[in-house]
Amino acid sequence: MDNVLYQHRYEELVKSAEKALRELTPAATTRPQRLHSAMRYSLDAGGKRLRPVLCLATAQAFQPYANALHAAVALECIHSYSLIHDDLPCMDNSDLRRGHPSCHKAFDEATALLAGDALIPLAFQLLAEGYATKPTIVQALVAELARAAGSQLLVGGQAEDMNGHAPGDAADRLDFILRGKTAALISAPLVMGAIIGGASDDDLAHCRKAGTAAGIAFQLVDDLLDVTGNARELGKPVGADIKNNKLTYAGLHGIEPTRQRIAELTQTALDELNACNAKTDFICTLIAKMAQRTR
Ligand code: IPE
Ligand code: IPE
Ligand code: MG
Ligand code: MG
Ligand code: MG
Repeated sequence: MDNVLYQHRYEELVKSAEKALRELTPAATTRPQRLHSAMRYSLDAGGKRLRPVLCLATAQAFQPYANALHAAVALECIHSYSLIHDDLPCMDNSDLRRGHPSCHKAFDEATALLAGDALIPLAFQLLAEGYATKPTIVQALVAELARAAGSQLLVGGQAEDMNGHAPGDAADRLDFILRGKTAALISAPLVMGAIIGGASDDDLAHCRKAGTAAGIAFQLVDDLLDVTGNARELGKPVGADIKNNKLTYAGLHGIEPTRQRIAELTQTALDELNACNAKTDFICTLIAKMAQRTR
């Protein structure tokens, strides 16, 4: 896709996602104010908004007038909660997120824990209320997001990630970690967008496979940037994975093989998206660009 058109579309989608994020989640002045201020602090901090953009773009790829804003915001709520908890001293102990002090630094640990907690039911409330007139869609969206965020994927991956270099088959553990902590919440936006856009079962399966491959690639890039990147540009510390003794693809196989694996996974994602009966050119360009990102 043409670069200027791509940039324009990406910015447009971020703008609509951020507008919905402001409108569909509680204001900082809502009681209790400290809790809602912390939720807002993390939601408003910026970031790439990759998950909402993927969700909106996928819905529109299948159905140009699809409205996936509630699902997009729900996904960003789950993502933001996972980052707030990921940064806590008992997890990665990271003081910087999206270029600002992490939530527990700007507020306090208990408030950060609770702000993360509160974002989880909010996500499901948004799905239930946003698609209330379409119960079948609500059911499918809730099932997808709950599965992705649950104990066998996002939280399970985070749990295994905390074990660092525990004994056992490292490659198998790493695969579980990557599919869980990251790929599930990159696949979910594609699947949820496709559900809202009325995709066929075959196309839902293509979206799931595309999202999983792109999501694993996304974490391999994140891990590479932790070694080769720049904290100012990333908005978070570098060198955190070695400090925390994390199991990563780059640590296990080295930098060049990681770059090669990112390229293979990206190609798999593009092949799956090209197999869809939908206008996926923007999503393909986005996924290709994510493999080259520096933030
Ligand atoms: C960071 O996600 C956590 C990972 C899964 C690697 P992002 O890189 O999407 O973070 P933001 O939303 O842009 O800050
Ligand atoms: C992120 O893994 C996974 C989740 C937050 C679910 P990392 O711990 O590598 O993410 P960053 O590098 O802190 O963003
Ligand atoms: Mg982590
Ligand atoms: Mg971390
Ligand atoms: Mg990281």
